[in-house]
Amino acid sequence: MTERAADARHWDDLSEQSRRWGLALPDGDPFRMLEGPVAMAGRSARNAVVLQPMEGADGEEDGSPGPLTLRRYRRFAESGAGLAWLEATAVDPAGRANPRQLRLHPGNRSRFADMARMIRDISLDRWGFAPLLLLQLTHSGRYARPASLPPDRLSAGDRAALPARFAETAELALDAGLDGVDIKACHGYLLSETLRDGPGLLLECVGAVRSRCGEAALLSCRLNLYDGIPDEPGFGSDPLAAADDPVSGPAAVARSLEAAGVRLFNATMGNPYRNPHVNRPFDQGPYPSPEPPLRGVLRLLEGARRLKRALVLPDSAVVASGLTWLRHQAPRVAGGLLASRSVDFVGFGRQAFAYPGFLADLRTRGTMDPGRCCLCCGKCSELMRGGRPSGCPVRDPDPYLAIYREMRASAQAAPGRKGDRP
Ligand SMILES: Cc1cc2nc3c(=O)[nH]c(=O)nc-3n(C[C@H](O)[C@H](O)[C@H](O)COP(=O)(O)O)c2cc1C
Repeated sequence: MTERAADARHWDDLSEQSRRWGLALPDGDPFRMLEGPVAMAGRSARNAVVLQPMEGADGEEDGSPGPLTLRRYRRFAESGAGLAWLEATAVDPAGRANPRQLRLHPGNRSRFADMARMIRDISLDRWGFAPLLLLQLTHSGRYARPASLPPDRLSAGDRAALPARFAETAELALDAGLDGVDIKACHGYLLSETLRDGPGLLLECVGAVRSRCGEAALLSCRLNLYDGIPDEPGFGSDPLAAADDPVSGPAAVARSLEAAGVRLFNATMGNPYRNPHVNRPFDQGPYPSPEPPLRGVLRLLEGARRLKRALVLPDSAVVASGLTWLRHQAPRVAGGLLASRSVDFVGFGRQAFAYPGFLADLRTRGTMDPGRCCLCCGKCSELMRGGRPSGCPVRDPDPYLAIYREMRASAQAAPGRKGDRP
């Protein structure tokens, strides 16, 4: 029997469908996410909203932020979120996911410092506070395409050098004025892929950052809780269906990370190349979603709730991912999650591309505008897959509609060339 998909515009529809699966849709005060401070590891964010890391593939050749990168972060800065989680930034030239991925190195530290200052100044000017700023550090492993060429396999020497690469880049990020760094261990990239064999390499990288930066860095980890690729050994189990292995599963890994100094966890799942419906529930994507998108949203939220329950230190905090598909109902779900202390922060990814004014509207009009919300149409991912700068061609047409049209036209002129970007 095919299931009628719930309509994200109608609360009753969402909650009835959740109930039919035996799941509860969190429900609470929509303004709760604007409240703060939210504390972790001696720092605090002004409110509980996180702008998720969203790669734009619009950096300069040497990895510095380009004009479109700065434009994206200007829009983010104007949003009034408490924490801006800056996108995947390579620790090594060979580990870039695309030739335009950001990369931080001694030669461009001042460019990152300028960007951090810009974000703080804009937010201070508009809202009277500066958001916490984290930089996501990554090596793309099997998905590295630094110059549009197939990646070389990572040698044993490269692998041994990786903790030092993370530590050096983390120190540069602190020098550039960031509050902390995220050691990316999700979405199938290198440290995520190695999790299925145990957390050894991830813990080494965290340990190297910790010993180089000490308490000065807010240390975070974006952690895949469930890889979700059928018939392949992966990490984590579907939290809507099963309990995880208490010894080797995500809860145990998270506690090891806590012991190593990580205090902020960003709960995520899936692989944008293999199962984007798990990572970013969509209405339209590269294939029809094999499940109602609401189920994907509930899986992400349940994973975050279980992660929070697994942590033992009182000053550790968890960010929930995957709220964008809920459109203007997201603040109500966020309110329920925060009131029950299921998580400490709520993260918005695609919504921040489409509608960076969503918090301002919530504050001033009492609601998000359904007509300005992200449509979950997949075009931002399509741009990235096509090797173009990513943004929202629908809600932010200048400049992204022209970029999108050019990409479609060149794909039609050269059919059969498939992109391989997330
Ligand atoms: C175009 C695009 C770029 C992304 N870049 C990153 C990234 O750099 N790092 C990361 O951890 N996740 C990245 N993600 C995943 C998002 O952070 C987020 O987890 C996902 O979109 C689900 O959240 P949402 O429903 O709020 O969009 C990206 C997603 C998209 C669509």
